[in-house]
Amino acid sequence: MSETSFTPRVFSGIQPSGNLHLGNYLGALKRFVDWQEKDVETIYCMVDLHAITVWQDPAKLRHATRELCAGFIAAGLDPARSILINQSQVPEHAQLAWIFNCVARMGWMQRMTQFKDKAGKNAQNASLGLFAYPALMAADILIYHATHVPVGEDQKQHLELTRDIAAKFNHDYGVDFFPMTEPVIEGAATRVMSLRDGSKKMSKSDPSDASRINMTDDADAIAKKIRKAKTDPEGLPSEAKGLEDRPEARNLVEIYAAFAEQSVDQVLAELGGKQFSEFKPLLADLAVSKLAPISAEMSRLMDNQDEIDRILTRGAERARAITAPILRRTYDIVGMVPPVQV
Ligand code: TYM
Repeated sequence: MSETSFTPRVFSGIQPSGNLHLGNYLGALKRFVDWQEKDVETIYCMVDLHAITVWQDPAKLRHATRELCAGFIAAGLDPARSILINQSQVPEHAQLAWIFNCVARMGWMQRMTQFKDKAGKNAQNASLGLFAYPALMAADILIYHATHVPVGEDQKQHLELTRDIAAKFNHDYGVDFFPMTEPVIEGAATRVMSLRDGSKKMSKSDPSDASRINMTDDADAIAKKIRKAKTDPEGLPSEAKGLEDRPEARNLVEIYAAFAEQSVDQVLAELGGKQFSEFKPLLADLAVSKLAPISAEMSRLMDNQDEIDRILTRGAERARAITAPILRRTYDIVGMVPPVQV
């Protein structure tokens, strides 16, 4: 395995800790499909070990992991072309994470805004796993020597930390073994905001279901949530700069642009001047036309969960052909005695 030049390889992951929502879809999953269509190896992961950094009901976690896999496939990921795995079936992720726990510094982890947000005021009561979360994320990526990681905006700090961990490992051991991974934060909707409050990101942990569109919502629910989405009294501007200081308006236009695969300027050139009473039904129709086939396919796939389990098992076998040699070499660099034939 080359230690100086890295072939392009894409890795990303989503937590099976609740419903997939529109932010996950536009910010991540849709981009995963774009990468699959390029001539590059793609590996996508349901990060169940990350999910349990906060409490998960075991039966719900199993269900959510299978449903997430169904969502991946329904959105266009092809298990023959992309490697689809759940993290716990590829043990090298957790094994490399331990090494990285010994490379990353406490101070680096303490700066992670996602830890501060998730732990809240009671950080002393948060799990040790939640604190170490970004080291496992770095291991997810680097156990494949992945070079590109498509994510939404909120993962940027974790990806910077991944580079810091790779750089410190390479420096401390005097090697050029782990690549400097590129975060890929692209598209019109890298930060989809809550439909009820344009200052908060759309998230599965928001107590208000009206704040997000779930991938399992039916056409009526999607249309209703868009109709009720918060906006301001003005109409659509004809240029992007007219959306400054109008977070709710900006959010709806970005969602439209991402679905239509246009830039915000292209959307406004076409629809500028319309009132939200006219724009919202257009957005609802577009969203339903894109999401309804995905949610129908998800529920069809969930009728055959044995097939989902087979896909994940095959994915793990293919993944381990990559991860096992990289872990062996890492152990060797660090100074572990390897097993011998007896
Ligand atoms: P998670 O499960 O919170 O989110 C999965 C992906 O969805 C993106 N995303 C959003 N994008 C735009 N607008 C939003 N409102 C929004 N909400 C979520 C996230 O940026 C992410 O890309 N730590 C990761 C999972 C992970 C991972 C990895 C990702 C574990 N290991 C290795 C990449 C590489 C997470 O919690 O994502």
